[in-house]
Amino acid sequence: MSNEFLKFCTPEINQETIDEVTACIKSGWLATGPRVKQFEEDLKKYLKAPYVLALNSATSGLHLALKCFGLEPQDEVITTPMTFVASLNTIIHAGARPVMVDVDLKTRNIAIDKIKAAITPRTKAILPVHFAGIPVDLDPIYEIAQKHNLRVLEDCAHAMGSHYKGKVLGSFGDTQVFSFHPNKVMTTGEGGSISTRDEQLTKKISIQRFHGIDRDSFNRFSKEGSQHYDVIQPGYKYNMMDLQAAIGIHQLQQLESFIAKRQKLVDRYNEILASWPEFTLPTLPSYDCRVSWYIYAPLVNPETAGMDRDTFIAKMKEQNIGLGYHHHAAHLYTYYKETFGYQRGDFPNAEAISDRVVSLPLFSTMTIADQDRTITAMKKIFKKE
Ligand SMILES: Cc1ncc(COP(=O)(O)O)c(C=O)c1O
Repeated sequence: MSNEFLKFCTPEINQETIDEVTACIKSGWLATGPRVKQFEEDLKKYLKAPYVLALNSATSGLHLALKCFGLEPQDEVITTPMTFVASLNTIIHAGARPVMVDVDLKTRNIAIDKIKAAITPRTKAILPVHFAGIPVDLDPIYEIAQKHNLRVLEDCAHAMGSHYKGKVLGSFGDTQVFSFHPNKVMTTGEGGSISTRDEQLTKKISIQRFHGIDRDSFNRFSKEGSQHYDVIQPGYKYNMMDLQAAIGIHQLQQLESFIAKRQKLVDRYNEILASWPEFTLPTLPSYDCRVSWYIYAPLVNPETAGMDRDTFIAKMKEQNIGLGYHHHAAHLYTYYKETFGYQRGDFPNAEAISDRVVSLPLFSTMTIADQDRTITAMKKIFKKE
């Protein structure tokens, strides 16, 4: 059995993908062009979404969507501390104030009753995060949004291919942002996308994603295009490259197989670890959903494990097994504490998760031998054999 360092995740890239990237390079068209257009069409089909825009990251997508919602200073966006800071920083960059509320201890997703309690006349949007790929309970969120005339921006960075009540995330609701960073279920290198049912929002974002220019670079440089363009707003440089889309086109074709392979590994972790008091395992919500598992993230129980999460991570590293940490409760980072006055104790559930959560290795090319190595290392650390 190999004892090389086992990374907690690594992307699966097939030969077709490599050939497509090579063809893209040889075509001389590396920036935004025909492959991005194709990737957007493919995403539209997969997500059953009328409008999809490919971007250079999910962070860009969150920023553009919030910006194009037309937020004003003093506007508030309700979100969760159990996220990567991109969800919060982009609210600030869009000119508004993030208002965090606690999460459900079991699903780690934003607590619906806490959203209701946080709504003020300044609330303009809700930004739920589908943590680990487990879909947020969207029906009550959209009910609240409708009642208070709020926009909903779903941070689907973790959840490409997850389903809520029989529907793929992205196929319904207001607006969704996906991430294709290499540690995600599918990748484009760096990359992201926005899906929405809002035609006006799509127009605004497609202008904003490329300098505020009223046509994209493909039109300018192709035979059919024109060299002239107008700038109607000061936009951003958030477009996806054809080189990235070349990867994405083939990743999307494999997505269902990636999800199925990860599910098998998750089932096996659940089966083996069910009787281990050292961990509290991830819990599924009671409503109907399919989870596209981005991470498998149990909580370490220090009382029974005999160590805290960070010691466990260090000991696994000694055993050549890499683990992840998703996420540090965001309200405890210096900037948010100093700027918005958050402190430890504000969100007990998020803090309990943040203090104990760990991501075990999970990726579609992970073999049973890799998983066995992980289990064996944990048995050794917890003195179970
Ligand atoms: C919840 C969440 N939102 C947003 C992002 C940002 O994604 P990207 O790296 O594609 O900008 C991440 C990245 O991991 C994330 O975990």
